[in-house]
Amino acid sequence: MYGNRFNERTTAEEIIDQLKIRSDGKYALITGGTDGIGAETARVLSKSGAHVIITGRDLTKGQTVVDNIKQETNGHIDLYHLDLTSFASVRVFARQIVDQYQHLDYLILNAGLFGHPYEKTVDGYEMHLQINHLSQFLLTQLLLPLLLKSSRSHVIVVSSAMHKNFGIQFDDLNFEKQAYSSCKAYAQSKTANILFAKQLNKLYHSEGVVSNSLHPGVIKTRLHRSFESDESANMKGKVKYDKSVQQGAATTIYACFASDDKDLLDGGQYCADCQVQKQVVNGWNGLFPDIGAIMKLNEGQQINVSHSIARHATSMEDAQKLWELSEQITGSASKSNE
Ligand SMILES: NC(=O)c1ccc[n+]([C@@H]2O[C@H](COP(=O)([O-])OP(=O)(O)OC[C@H]3O[C@@H](n4cnc5c(N)ncnc54)[C@H](OP(=O)(O)O)[C@@H]3O)[C@@H](O)[C@H]2O)c1
Repeated sequence: MYGNRFNERTTAEEIIDQLKIRSDGKYALITGGTDGIGAETARVLSKSGAHVIITGRDLTKGQTVVDNIKQETNGHIDLYHLDLTSFASVRVFARQIVDQYQHLDYLILNAGLFGHPYEKTVDGYEMHLQINHLSQFLLTQLLLPLLLKSSRSHVIVVSSAMHKNFGIQFDDLNFEKQAYSSCKAYAQSKTANILFAKQLNKLYHSEGVVSNSLHPGVIKTRLHRSFESDESANMKGKVKYDKSVQQGAATTIYACFASDDKDLLDGGQYCADCQVQKQVVNGWNGLFPDIGAIMKLNEGQQINVSHSIARHATSMEDAQKLWELSEQITGSASKSNE
């Protein structure tokens, strides 16, 4: 099994090289490919021969990433504008993709926001919820026709071990009744990522769409910029990074290509450190609402927080409930739940 060959130190490129993977003729779309883990995922997929599509909000910044990758791989890589704070932007982007491409083999929902103060999007939803979950739920619904055209396609949702901090607040998704914490809002959205992957897999696996989610590791990217600059909350320097960006992209590449891992092919799994993680633990229920405390827990209890999934992210009942709610909110319905 690949799970035995790769671990927390493996880089994305090592997986491609060691397995001699070629993905010529395959199409891979990565949301948020303009920075951090997404840009490295795009580079490695392009190196493997895939036709890569990335999205960004700043096309000048994105073009620099495209140019650098093309210079190295000589591959096909396209850049599109997508702002996940707006359902209208998602619909415009999805239309362009459906018009431009014949099929999609890999959809990597990677774009994400963390540590943002309370703010609502133009559509009226809490920022983490819409960027990290609702807009990417809508995008997937709109791209399903392309995913279904491939004999087997993969949807890979980049979640986080921070999902353990908080479950879905079905009666207060928007933090209008309870006190706001950006860690809780992020955790709710990352729990949503896992439940979404599970329900997508349940509904579409029989039609060839395999869906899994993952925690990439704790990596120094722009994601942590608000924490790193937050002198007032004394967060600067508190995050304990455990991987390079090259290692951070590895579990995504593993989820795309570990074709001899039966669990992954069955789908609906949560992975970390290039392995499916099955140990179920109790969530933290918001008891550790900042990164520093999580690291204290981590050190004090000598546990690897990556190697388990929270119970609140395993309920198929909640996965279905979230799916139906997300359909209502985004006005998209591809298939009824049964
Ligand atoms: N880094 C970590 O330690 C860590 C740990 C656990 C999970 N993750 C997850 O890994 C994923 C990638 O994170 P990263 O560390 O690579 O972060 P990053 O360097 O900040 O990159 C985030 C990407 O998301 C895009 N994005 C952000 N807001 C967007 C919006 N409103 N509309 C469209 N795109 C938007 C960014 O685009 P712009 O270039 O336009 O800003 C960028 O390409 C995220 O889902 C994150 O939750 C990361």
